[in-house]
Amino acid sequence: MVLEPRTEGGSEHRDRKVWLESCAKHYGSVVALAEVELAVEDGEFLTLLGPSGSGKTTLLNLIAGMVQPTSGRIWIDGADITRVPPSKRGIGMVFQNYALMPHMTVFENIAFPLRVRKMAEAEIRRKVGEVLDIVRLPDVGKRKPSELSGGQQQRIAIARCIVYNPSIILMDEPLGALDKKLREELQLELKQLHTQLGITVLYVTHDQEEALTMSDRIVLLNHGKIEQMGPPDELYFQPRTLFAAEFLGDSNIFDGTVAGLGEFVSVYSEPGASMMARPAPIAEIGKAVKVLVRPENLTLLRQCEESGLANRLSAEMVDSIILGGVIKCYVRLSDDTTVVVQELTKAERAPPPPGSKVSVAWSAEDTLILPAVGGMTEGGGTAAA
Ligand SMILES: Nc1ncnc2c1ncn2[C@@H]1O[C@H](COP(=O)(O)OP(=O)(O)OP(=O)(O)O)[C@@H](O)[C@H]1O
Ligand SMILES: [Mg+2]
Repeated sequence: MVLEPRTEGGSEHRDRKVWLESCAKHYGSVVALAEVELAVEDGEFLTLLGPSGSGKTTLLNLIAGMVQPTSGRIWIDGADITRVPPSKRGIGMVFQNYALMPHMTVFENIAFPLRVRKMAEAEIRRKVGEVLDIVRLPDVGKRKPSELSGGQQQRIAIARCIVYNPSIILMDEPLGALDKKLREELQLELKQLHTQLGITVLYVTHDQEEALTMSDRIVLLNHGKIEQMGPPDELYFQPRTLFAAEFLGDSNIFDGTVAGLGEFVSVYSEPGASMMARPAPIAEIGKAVKVLVRPENLTLLRQCEESGLANRLSAEMVDSIILGGVIKCYVRLSDDTTVVVQELTKAERAPPPPGSKVSVAWSAEDTLILPAVGGMTEGGGTAAA
């Protein structure tokens, strides 16, 4: 047997900010993280997204050095740090539960990592003042954490993390304990902080909306494997698996069989005979597939309306809900499946009342073909694109 030399692909990752080289973490027979290959760019805001138990915290802990990989190596700035202790990795961490020390003042909490590093007192005062300004809480230094709101405590946790200029920040659901409004406010602040400081951020959430709004790139994890990674719009509009399609955003998914290949793929599907879809490598005549259409790509047509769109199904109006600027309409197809249509709310065009005969129409470009297996409910995640 001839051994291959180390792959070229490997060495080019060495100048990335972080590189997980074939990293895996097992706990006995539990595969917390299957062999993963992940390169993070300098200054990137990368989000790890996935259901509970998919390996998000494990991946962060590997980078932080809190756990050792079962196999593989970890590189930061081109250096192999697999065996380097956490305190020597130049990494800051922020957790969901703030983890501030309750008996210390806010000032002392933030000063703590600097005291550990034996910084001079005057320098400590200057640095703490500076980061309190950055998180917009300049006057709370003398208070105890319990005298702050949840959102303020989380900002202090962030201040304590950035005070010693880490070049990478790892955040594990840092906004998970906050209510929706505060969450959205802090999301914006975190984004601004990221831009302002130019730090590389690895961010964990299981909130898909948060991932879509915050990230340069999303890594979608499923059962310890990377299901798909890419910029938010790519994951949303070009999911490669049923799991990715179902996990991010609302979707309408039909069963189908590939019936014809050409500029567009024709798929035979129960509720409407034939649908036209975007070409895909997996499309082969006779193959069972799933067909995906996002609700915002569907148009709701009244009985005699025409659209010129390639796909059209007859339906009956079930219900509609106005969500501020958008309206969600639920319609039932002849085979009893429910389809959701999302349109912009327009005062002059109210949705038809329940029971009305309607149609839903959409273009072939907005129709994706996906492998028939590997959805969220199958516990699989093993779908091969
Ligand atoms: N110390 C451990 N011993 C045994 N199994 C572990 C340990 N830590 C994690 N696991 C297992 O590894 C898998 C991944 O766990 P991990 O904490 O990374 O998930 P997660 O994606 O962060 O989930 P959550 O969203 O619930 O925080 C889970 O099945 C978990 O039970
Ligand atoms: Mg976790």
